[in-house]
Amino acid sequence: MIPQSFIQDLLGRVDIVDVIERHLPLKKGGANYFACCPFHGEKSASFSVSPTKQFYHCFGCGVHGNAIGFLMEYSGLSFVEATKELAGQVGLKIPEDTKGATPTLNQPSNDGLYAAMTAAAQFYREQLKKTPAAIEYLKKRGLTGEIAARFGIGYAPDDWQGLKTVFPDYDRKALVECGLIIENDQGRRYDRFRHRIMFPIQDRRGRIIGFGGRVLDGGEPKYLNSPETPLFEKGRELYGLTQAHKAIRDEASALIVEGYMDVVALAQYGIGNAVATLGTATNAHHVTTLMRLTDRVVFCFDGDAPGRKAAWRALEASLEALRDDVTLAFLFLPPEHDPDSFVREHGAQAFRDAATSARPLARFLLDELKAQVDLDTAEGRARLIHEARPLITRVGAPLLRLQLLKTTAEAGGISQSEIETAYGLTSNRPERTQDTWRKPQQRSSQPRPRGRTRAVTPVGILLRLVLDNPGLAARLPADLIEPSDAESLALIAIVDAMGIGDIEADCGVAALVERFRETPHATALSKVAGELVGTEFDESVVELLFEDTLRKLQADAINHEIVELTGRERDGGLTSAERHHLAHLILQKRQLGEPRKI
Ligand code: GTP
Ligand code: MN
Repeated sequence: MIPQSFIQDLLGRVDIVDVIERHLPLKKGGANYFACCPFHGEKSASFSVSPTKQFYHCFGCGVHGNAIGFLMEYSGLSFVEATKELAGQVGLKIPEDTKGATPTLNQPSNDGLYAAMTAAAQFYREQLKKTPAAIEYLKKRGLTGEIAARFGIGYAPDDWQGLKTVFPDYDRKALVECGLIIENDQGRRYDRFRHRIMFPIQDRRGRIIGFGGRVLDGGEPKYLNSPETPLFEKGRELYGLTQAHKAIRDEASALIVEGYMDVVALAQYGIGNAVATLGTATNAHHVTTLMRLTDRVVFCFDGDAPGRKAAWRALEASLEALRDDVTLAFLFLPPEHDPDSFVREHGAQAFRDAATSARPLARFLLDELKAQVDLDTAEGRARLIHEARPLITRVGAPLLRLQLLKTTAEAGGISQSEIETAYGLTSNRPERTQDTWRKPQQRSSQPRPRGRTRAVTPVGILLRLVLDNPGLAARLPADLIEPSDAESLALIAIVDAMGIGDIEADCGVAALVERFRETPHATALSKVAGELVGTEFDESVVELLFEDTLRKLQADAINHEIVELTGRERDGGLTSAERHHLAHLILQKRQLGEPRKI
């Protein structure tokens, strides 16, 4: 038995795109990735993978599932094998047999691992003091002892078992587990970091969770980082946040740069509000973390082609996290520079000025799209509007989205209401909501799903909305859902599970479906989730649709009761309380029926 909490955690950490890409080349198209389906012979790419939903679906043959399901289907693994394989990919260990134990009791304490990291960091700092070549290297890079101390920079000696002096029990399992020591196939153990400048990586609470180690000469790899461990999850951490925290608050802005040395060099020049991603692309988590501290985040990238590509990926990753009260901006340095070399050549003031005049996200977005099309032709303008759609509809901030709609419409030579219609954002609701469901948004190159597409019931609509956004289940009264078919039963099960805290509001569709594996609801849920892979909902549409459908269900329930009461009134009369209730119901019905202003 693998605890459900572990599986949920695992699915929260893996990226289905990475998992599938190990086996199939995927091509990006809009928000999703596509490939020729590995489960049926085909020439067009109808197999699609949604990074936001963490789910795959083939529009040709209908297969679907999450990351675990993919490995089971594709590699023929059992559930446990697939889970193990995924856990291995992200450096998680499956908890031991937990019969009878509650998941919380089962959580191993990481105290020993933290202690080992702290001891190692101290050792590396001491070694730096004793190693003139390492001190010389840092001096050559313009760092003072004060800054080196501030970042806890150290040196790992050129010794296969240097850490033996710190850890006489060099055989301890924890040392391998926290990534300091490597054990080879013959069972021999040695230090991971040797002859490198060591940058300790701290978490938000200031605990050391990993290291980045840089060579002093031209060796390879230039940087060696700690592996993913129970303490260290690369994609969630920002290097230098502990040190930058106060400056970010004081300066009311944060800088995201790419390298360890960039953070340290900027701090050396008095620019203390910089943090770096750890050799990974900037993701929504990074942005959200910084947006909690400040309302201005500046991404700083090299001005060359890879830098622009990285910037674009950062932009895409930020769209959903955007807020109207936060500015995200992009700073492109001259191609020959990174922040470290720039600040050393031009000084702090020049860097500050550049950061102040960084390009706001909305402008960067439009500039990049415009550069890809020929705005002098009708086709080019249409293409601009087409390309902007999946980006703009993902923007969560309503005012910013409105601004983007306006400027895109303007650039594309159409009006705001025309672009809203084109994007399906207009609000003549009743017909459109039905249409949305009959025709899930698809790329024209994809084959239509097999079989007849049937109209979706109100409960079916709610189920789809809840799968898209599980948090909505918390707002659904379970007794309003008539248990009639597989979809309604599944929806009731979700609402109940949410009610007792069995699933998290932000768990995402893949984890939600996983929760119901091997229950009677598995088939219905995973089928609907597969259907959703081709559909992207605009947040405002979701809200309207959810409320509308909920009202419709309420109206149905009220009608049902009115019919029943009026029938009995005809047959034998009602008690005065019942008559009172009937009048109340009729009033409620009238209120519900009134068209609402949007
Ligand atoms: P310097 O050459 O010391 O100035 O390095 P930098 O901090 O400017 O780093 P660079 O721009 O070369 O790379 C940016 C970041 O990518 C680094 O800080 C590392 O996190 C990561 N990185 C760079 N090279 C490697 C490598 O060889 N292996 C790994 N795993 N990560 C690397
Ligand atoms: Mn550099």
